[in-house]
Amino acid sequence: MSQEKTYDQILLEVPDGVFFRFPLCQVNGVPLMEPIADNWGKVETFQARPDDLLIATYPKAGTTWMQEIVDSILNDGDLKRAKRAPIHVRSPFLEIASPPPVPSGVQILENTPSPRLVKTHLPYQLVPKSFWEQNCKVIYVARNAKDIAVSYYHFDLLSKSQPDPGTWEQYVERFLQGNVPWGSWFDHVISWWKAKDRHQVLYIFYEDMKEDPKREIRKVMKFLGKDLPDEVLDKIHQHTTFQAMKENPMANYTTVPTFLMDQSISPFMRKGEVADWKNHFTGAQTEMFDTEYLRRMKETDLKFRCDI
Ligand code: A3P
Repeated sequence: MSQEKTYDQILLEVPDGVFFRFPLCQVNGVPLMEPIADNWGKVETFQARPDDLLIATYPKAGTTWMQEIVDSILNDGDLKRAKRAPIHVRSPFLEIASPPPVPSGVQILENTPSPRLVKTHLPYQLVPKSFWEQNCKVIYVARNAKDIAVSYYHFDLLSKSQPDPGTWEQYVERFLQGNVPWGSWFDHVISWWKAKDRHQVLYIFYEDMKEDPKREIRKVMKFLGKDLPDEVLDKIHQHTTFQAMKENPMANYTTVPTFLMDQSISPFMRKGEVADWKNHFTGAQTEMFDTEYLRRMKETDLKFRCDI
């Protein structure tokens, strides 16, 4: 990335149509958007550093929320620092790749000084091996599948690089089949649930964060070895509420040009609730979803709440 231009300024120079709805390509059995698959060699051989912190999620699980929380903690609650740049600059997206001249996540990270706060949507088995060789810490945020499906559907409407979600009816089926970017939600949450027993992984649930945000922020602080006073915790909590983040241009993706993210269709900070799925799923869709859910989750002790 050139010194003078910000990431979002470079995006503005991309010719019309370049970002339009990339097809999915299989990478080791996981569907990823074409530019990511084309750049896969660079992701696979990415060199992690021991003090890298990885925030891993299935899309729409509360990634941005956790990124904002962690960045605020790492800056000891200094909110001026937390507003120094958009979240995708403060915490670059490892595997993301776009046509030139937009730099890939790997290129951005290579030029990012340590300690780096790295975002990924990769399932465990696709994470570059160097993260495990360096014994990096990982925070994994998981969210119940029905709310994810609703959130992801709306995101795919607004995000012009994602494949067209089609109708909601079509989308529910595609989601259950794992025929969406980053693949099957089931495989993803289970892969990381197993990984937590082998590596330094803090597994956090979106529903728990909604239920008691301060309790969960404290967990994250402890995992990071940060013992911040209660006033700082309060400040971080206030800074990372749904409303505060919705109003914060450094957290709400409004700095990204509309040809890439058209938030007039649906805002990135959409609802931020648990159980919004009830406003979208029909009875028949719930039944189909629950049947498949039981089948796919029967061999794991991983449990989700679809309501709180
Ligand atoms: P909804 O579409 O259900 O509103 P991600 O960052 O992984 O893409 O996830 C986005 C989802 O997290 C969106 O869900 C968004 O509203 C929600 N979210 C973001 N910040 C939040 C916050 N501070 N509190 C609650 N939900 C938040």
